[in-house]
Amino acid sequence: MNTAPVYILGIESSCDDTSAAVTCNDKILANVIAGQRVHEAYGGVVPELASRAHQQNIIPVVHEALRMAKINKAQLNAVAFTRGPGLLGSLLVGTSFAKSFALAMGIPIIEVNHMQAHVIANFASGEEEKNFLAPSFPFLCLTVSGGHTQIVKVVNHYEMTIIGQTLDDAAGEAFDKAAKILGLPFPGGPLIDKHSQSGNPHAFKFPHPDMPDLNYSFSGLKTSFLYFIRKNTTTNPAFIEQSLADICASFQYTVIQVLLHKLKLAVNQTGIKTVAIAGGVSANSGLRSSLLQMKESAGWEVFIPKFEYCTDNAAMIALSGYFKYLKNDFTSQEITPIARYPF
Ligand code: KG4
Ligand code: ZN
Repeated sequence: MNTAPVYILGIESSCDDTSAAVTCNDKILANVIAGQRVHEAYGGVVPELASRAHQQNIIPVVHEALRMAKINKAQLNAVAFTRGPGLLGSLLVGTSFAKSFALAMGIPIIEVNHMQAHVIANFASGEEEKNFLAPSFPFLCLTVSGGHTQIVKVVNHYEMTIIGQTLDDAAGEAFDKAAKILGLPFPGGPLIDKHSQSGNPHAFKFPHPDMPDLNYSFSGLKTSFLYFIRKNTTTNPAFIEQSLADICASFQYTVIQVLLHKLKLAVNQTGIKTVAIAGGVSANSGLRSSLLQMKESAGWEVFIPKFEYCTDNAAMIALSGYFKYLKNDFTSQEITPIARYPF
């Protein structure tokens, strides 16, 4: 049996983070992420600017990842890249880079679905994490990002099904839009989280959506939040300034309650009590602690990826590539990215 280590270079460029990572078998050797501050002034990601920034960042992040991993590019066995879903111009940069690099090195490429990779982030650990424990199959994964909110039933590293999802806005989008209404810069999710720490989550009440099955909706919450802020700032122009922490804490509390409600239903319906989270919003401190409480109160086994593997990163892409490599699941050089890549 061939036991030579497998080295994969992972490339992520689906939205506004340019990232490169190197794995040795299932361990992460390096995970380098270049964010793009250029979007802050616009209150959201500007696709054209994102593609240009990826073009500038891609070579430096790959160099840095190889340097940190202490390996030579000639040692790489394959290049895994995000094929979608995401912004097409952004995806094209990573895809084109992966194809040319692999062609030059004479190694295969492996396409990865970004949303499945967020789930796989639950298996990501560094070589130093000797006691790392990954979720056992089957498990449920709540994937919450800027573009998606999904409850995924994970059968193994390759088979996953969406059993519930948002029918309009994603949870991350709700955080970002609420932050924008409050005049906070983009992306506002982390700032709402930060201000919530000193606020009262029960200060204000917002309506919960009533969606069928295991599905979510966040657009109604966003609208009622907008009207709530308008009404209060009309009577008191300093309302936001005076109550920022309470507003953030109450909004965040509502989003977490909505997310948990359907997740509890999913656990009851499937009988699966092993629950993981993934995606940028899983970096939220309130969501993390609420989920950990479910361990105590409902006997769930809870898995939360390390912070750096929650938001967009190439470690999850390289690791997904490794699992596909084990199945010889390679991709042809004719491949093109897909903005709406089905699960
Ligand atoms: O997965 P991700 O990095 O990118 C994609 O959308 O694929 O997720 C980004 C989203 C943004 O909406 C951001 O505001 C949100 O994750 N986010 C957070 C936190 N950190 C990132 N939302 C709430 N609390 C946080 N701590
Ligand atoms: Zn993402």
